[in-house]
Amino acid sequence: MSQEYAELHVEGKIYKLPVVRGTEGEKAIDISKLRDESGFITLDVGLKNTGTTQSAITFIDGEKGILRYRGYPIEQLAEYSTFLEVAFLLIYGYLPKKDELDRFVHEVRTHTMVNEDMRKIFDGFPVNAHPMGVLSALVTSLSAFYPKAVGLDIEKEKEYLDLTIIRIIAKLPTIAAWSYKNSQGHPVNYPKNNLDYCSNFLYMMFSLPPIEPYEVNPVVAKALDRLLILHADHEQNCSASTVRLVGSSHAGLYSSIAAGIDALWGPLHGGANQEVIEMLQEIYEAGGNVRQFVEKAKDKNSGFRLMGFGHRVYKNFDPRAKIIKKTCDEVLTALNIKDPLLDIAKELEYVALNDQYFIDRKLYPNVDFYSGIIYKAIGIPINMFTVMFALGRLPGWIAQWLEMRRAKEPIGRPRQVYIGETARDYVPIDKR
Ligand code: CMC
Repeated sequence: MSQEYAELHVEGKIYKLPVVRGTEGEKAIDISKLRDESGFITLDVGLKNTGTTQSAITFIDGEKGILRYRGYPIEQLAEYSTFLEVAFLLIYGYLPKKDELDRFVHEVRTHTMVNEDMRKIFDGFPVNAHPMGVLSALVTSLSAFYPKAVGLDIEKEKEYLDLTIIRIIAKLPTIAAWSYKNSQGHPVNYPKNNLDYCSNFLYMMFSLPPIEPYEVNPVVAKALDRLLILHADHEQNCSASTVRLVGSSHAGLYSSIAAGIDALWGPLHGGANQEVIEMLQEIYEAGGNVRQFVEKAKDKNSGFRLMGFGHRVYKNFDPRAKIIKKTCDEVLTALNIKDPLLDIAKELEYVALNDQYFIDRKLYPNVDFYSGIIYKAIGIPINMFTVMFALGRLPGWIAQWLEMRRAKEPIGRPRQVYIGETARDYVPIDKR
């Protein structure tokens, strides 16, 4: 097909800009040479309309509410796959054959231990440290324990690259559970490698030997596995873009992932699941008047937003939210839990979806709206919610980092339009 061009008319000149089309019909105008040719840059604060890469990992159609990993619909993966199979799919690009998946799962199972010296780092954190801060710090410290992973040649050292990937997938649940144990002032549990990925995590979180041995409930382990699948990737979101940007300086995988964890922590990104539960709790404690809070969310001066509502990309139902809502009902039924926060969430969803403000702005429940209720039901404390998101998002971050490095993308370095003072002379302190 011949190259198409868009034309930009500015300052009496015409610039021809190549048009790029994706496999799902998405279209873009390549402006990468615009500044060299014209002196102009493009301005798009928050990158709301800027493609930073061409990616083959995840497809989202926000208008239609579609999410696919490597072409496979999220609904099918959530129903039939497992988190580790999805991780393989995202990272290596195809669904593994049985022996490949067996090998991958075995490798993950047998790398769950963290170096005993790393365990000592936990002792240095205050007991009330937020587990996200601890998680990020410990993931960064993996680079210190595995220094070869830092300057890795990803083409020539493929085996070590695979080992680096396995290590972080295997160790993140251990580090996450230990960050929780640390926040409780409890001794840590070492991993039990006869357990599957999610059961092992639940065991390390909740077992309190010899006082309280923990029986993993398979319904809970399955629900957790599904939640991790639903969070596994979401194309160029804030944390994935951070991982790619940090990695573009050829920083190692571990420090790039740690940066992704930090980006995820914010309340407008992964931190929203914690905020949702806190909001539902606040509504409950204030007497359950849902409409009053919806009105408050519409009032721009209140500084209050409906957490778990709205999305930069989805202008329709977030497909993950639909699956999570169903899973939420299943888990609460299986555990025989009646949570008034679920009733409030459902009423809130109903009221908001029928309110003109939310209809006009196409604000729907997002992935965080119901996930917190499941986490709460299975005993995950609120300050661990975002850690759960990080556990799920890990394969996506790895896949994004790898894709960026394999494509030999240049170091990320945005431009700006300077609006500060023009040149002026320094004024000595006694003359100011
Ligand atoms: N409650 C009330 N109003 C809202 C909300 C909300 N949750 N979200 C957006 N709006 C309004 C906003 O005030 C604006 O109104 P107007 O056009 O009158 O100024 C309009 O909707 C568009 O909002 P925006 O902030 O320009 O949209 P954005 O794409 O920059 O922000 C968002 C997306 C997710 C940050 C935002 O919807 C939000 O703050 N939601 C609550 C936090 C949340 O649930 N975050 C989790 C996102 S999903 C997990 C993830 O992938 O990270």
